[in-house]
Amino acid sequence: MQEEWPPGSVQRPVRVERRPVDEAESRRANGPDWDRYADEYQATHGEFLGDIGFVWGPEGLTEAEAGVLGDLRGRRVLEVGSGAGQCSRWVATQGGTPVGLDLSWRQLQHSRRLDEETGVPVPSVLGTATALPFAGDAFDVVFSSFGALQFVADLQGCIAETARVLRAGGRFAFSITHPTRWSFPDDPDEPGLTATQSYWDRTPYVEIDDETGVVSYVEHHRTLSDWVSVLAGAGFSLTALLEPEWPQDHDRVWGGWSRTRGRLTPGTAIFAADLR
Ligand SMILES: C[S@@+](CC[C@H](N)C(=O)[O-])C[C@H]1O[C@@H](n2cnc3c(N)ncnc32)[C@H](O)[C@@H]1O
Repeated sequence: MQEEWPPGSVQRPVRVERRPVDEAESRRANGPDWDRYADEYQATHGEFLGDIGFVWGPEGLTEAEAGVLGDLRGRRVLEVGSGAGQCSRWVATQGGTPVGLDLSWRQLQHSRRLDEETGVPVPSVLGTATALPFAGDAFDVVFSSFGALQFVADLQGCIAETARVLRAGGRFAFSITHPTRWSFPDDPDEPGLTATQSYWDRTPYVEIDDETGVVSYVEHHRTLSDWVSVLAGAGFSLTALLEPEWPQDHDRVWGGWSRTRGRLTPGTAIFAADLR
């Protein structure tokens, strides 16, 4: 018999749909999903991420190369969707004071493990990007590397929360699946190069547990103009939009990201914006 630890960790058959899902259902699905997936995620990607390492996405662009967060010395920094806290740990080595926040307790257990293994602790809390448990103006920098932003239904609420906890003039930066990717099947090989659905269709990607009918995973899509509008509407001025190219010698496959697709089409978008 397959042992089930953490509870609910056994992957069960799912069916995929596109249909509307609200914030509560997204959160109910994604927390337990990341709890189930955390061990495999860290075992598969941990070495690539680096225990003290800041990678913006599967292309391997590091914050040391991108420099979108600016000088971190003396900065109070919040990482949203911090997972095992690798990025925040790198922030600490640059003189910043990081705090992590994640929806998944199992991801945070990995963060505790890395705190001990590296000797670079990242204080972290269990929570959601749409209700940040911090006072206003508490941070100079908020960032997310493929963290919560594409998992929340209430993007406006999430960005408003970010603006609330940032001081005026503070920097917000995040990476997400490049919005153009949503037109293509999530396949790292040739079939992933043929557009099959409308870029403008924002209907969420939903996985449903075949046995129980319960929504078990959700991702939300927004177009590039949606992202710009929601940032501007919350008082942010865009300072950068990066679309990292796939490096010639990089042949790692991460889900739907690969050299086959990466040499032709962007897989990651990184936004940076300052609060006015
Ligand atoms: C792809 S992982 C990225 C984790 C980390 N930034 C890294 O690079 O490994 C996405 C993370 O976002 C977290 N997450 C998903 N929805 C969230 C939410 N609503 N609020 C906070 N974190 C969330 C997941 O639990 C997961 O740890």
